[in-house]
Amino acid sequence: MSDGVRIVEVGARDGLQNEKTIVPTLVKIELIDRLSATGLQSIEATSFVSPKWVPQLADAADVYTAIQKFPGVRYPVLVPNLQGYARARAVGVSEIAVFTAASEAFNQKNINATIAKSLERFAPVVERAQTDGVAVRGYVSTVLGCPYQGEVPLADVVRVAKSLHAMGCYEISLGDTIGIGTPAKARAMLKAVAGEVPMSALAIHFHDTRGQALANILACLELGVGVIDSAVSGVGGCPYARGASGNVASEDVVYMLHGLGLATGVDLDALIETGRWLSAQLARENGSKVGKAA
Ligand code: HMG
Ligand code: MG
Repeated sequence: MSDGVRIVEVGARDGLQNEKTIVPTLVKIELIDRLSATGLQSIEATSFVSPKWVPQLADAADVYTAIQKFPGVRYPVLVPNLQGYARARAVGVSEIAVFTAASEAFNQKNINATIAKSLERFAPVVERAQTDGVAVRGYVSTVLGCPYQGEVPLADVVRVAKSLHAMGCYEISLGDTIGIGTPAKARAMLKAVAGEVPMSALAIHFHDTRGQALANILACLELGVGVIDSAVSGVGGCPYARGASGNVASEDVVYMLHGLGLATGVDLDALIETGRWLSAQLARENGSKVGKAA
């Protein structure tokens, strides 16, 4: 196992993109500011995707502009194409994440492109980012199964992860988008990818649909992975992945890591308090919408 683990907090993006109601911009900003104060080093802030596809994050520029940028904290954002890159750069974004999948069927639903086409789209984005000194993370979704295609061959996961790394992504996050994996499968997947991409450049991203996320994370930690994506309060899901529920909760991950003697730099009490605050905000939002509908 590595000595310390970096958490990439994805709640403000992966969480709020999947809420039925559109969370007010001010709540998003306060969420990120609260997360910044917990000691997290990487906080995914939002997505510069098409607002027609993900209206929940249409306020990406306003959110990114208003959040406090804590020294030493990274605030990556999702970018699907050059249009998104330009929007992100216009508000001073210094780290982006491009995202594709190991499953053709999921990619079509999520970004309306084949895997090959998506990689073709990212090439000029990554090139421009490198010229601008912008760091690029890469996501591979559906690494342990796809809601449309079912089984996803390991060779496809390895191929896509390797392509993103070769293109210039400094880190590749391996996503079990629908939380279908179990520890032995997670371990085999990570081992296969680590055969082609250095373990130090890999992150894991588990959704907790079937309660397997912590077990999967432990299995991967034992292989030496040092970066874990998680979402405060377990919010999360992809609007284009049927059946995908929340990400593994950051509070649970930090609790487990500290119990294993692994440092995260995160103040667990402050994180739990932020999770409670977010849950109250979401309950109020959902309640008020229900009230209006009635
Ligand atoms: P498309 O419809 O094929 O693209 O969507 P297009 O180029 O034809 O554009 C359609 C319209 O969108 C045009 O507007 C464009 O200008 C506009 P119109 O001419 O109709 O008025 N547009 C944009 N507007 C703002 N920003 C942009 C942008 N791009 C186009 N960047 C596209 C292709 C990729 C844009 C679309 O499919 C999309 O935005 N998809 C994003 C879906 C998404 O965000 N999914 C969730 C994130 S992935 C995830 O959650 C998994 C992850 O967590 C890991 C895991 O769990 O596995 C990362
Ligand atoms: Mg996700």
